Amino acid sequence: MIESVSPGGGTSTPVRCLESAGPGSHTGPVRRAYTVCVRHIEPATREQASQLARLINLAGEGIPEYLWEGMREGAETALDVGARRASRDDGGFSYRNARVCVEDGNILGMVLAYAQPDPLDIGDIEEYPGFLRPLVELEAMAPGSWYVNALATFEAWRGRGVASALLEDTHARAAGAGCASVSLIVASTNEPAMRLYERFGYRAEGERPVVPFGGCLHGGRWVLMCRPVTPSIDT
Ligand SMILES: CC(C)(COP(=O)(O)OP(=O)(O)OC[C@H]1O[C@@H](n2cnc3c(N)ncnc32)[C@H](O)[C@@H]1OP(=O)(O)O)[C@@H](O)C(=O)NCCC(=O)NCCS
Repeated sequence: MIESVSPGGGTSTPVRCLESAGPGSHTGPVRRAYTVCVRHIEPATREQASQLARLINLAGEGIPEYLWEGMREGAETALDVGARRASRDDGGFSYRNARVCVEDGNILGMVLAYAQPDPLDIGDIEEYPGFLRPLVELEAMAPGSWYVNALATFEAWRGRGVASALLEDTHARAAGAGCASVSLIVASTNEPAMRLYERFGYRAEGERPVVPFGGCLHGGRWVLMCRPVTPSIDT
């Protein structure tokens, strides 16, 4: 939800999924017709920056748009600012940190993740705006983890395994990068996301009350959730 710097890159992973072809496709009491689609999870590109900005904003509980609003230049909208930042080669929101789930050329969802430094020095917490301090403090509790900064699926594609596939890809990348855990921060009020993470074995390791900001979508708490992974390379 907040920006920091790390490298991106990586390879494409095919994801097989079964989708019912609909009620008219049934040919008998036991046989059902299915179409088999092949989804890919692949590194995002600079050209996808506008869609990445939309997805980062969906994941950020109102924070990205609030921050981008204050960075507008000329006739830019907040989402234009997000796209400009996502198209950069560096910065936490860079397209280089993003992996997209693609089907038939359409982006269905995205995960933006990278390794946190270890040790993780946050400097003087008083220098951050009040509403970001809880998030910075929670991030700092998971040094050296593979940090999921943003995960989102476009509305039309939810409930079809897109985020689950992106999380599986994330766990493999974390292991490949030599990380022993994956961390993320979720709002306690975000029930679909909490359910998803718990199903994947994430456990709460810390929490802070949400500090309201302009455009704040909810109260509640920010929850740091972590899940162990087995590093697949020597560190
Ligand atoms: C949270 C979020 C990322 C989940 O994305 P998603 O692609 O819908 O997630 P999945 O499809 O993998 O899983 C969602 C549910 O669909 C179910 N599901 C997965 N594949 C399915 C399929 N083929 N058919 C039916 N249901 C399926 C899952 O079991 C899961 O069920 P649950 O709600 O009981 O846990 C999505 O709601 C989102 O983008 N929200 C806004 C952004 C956000 O909050 N991001 C997280 C910030 S920390």
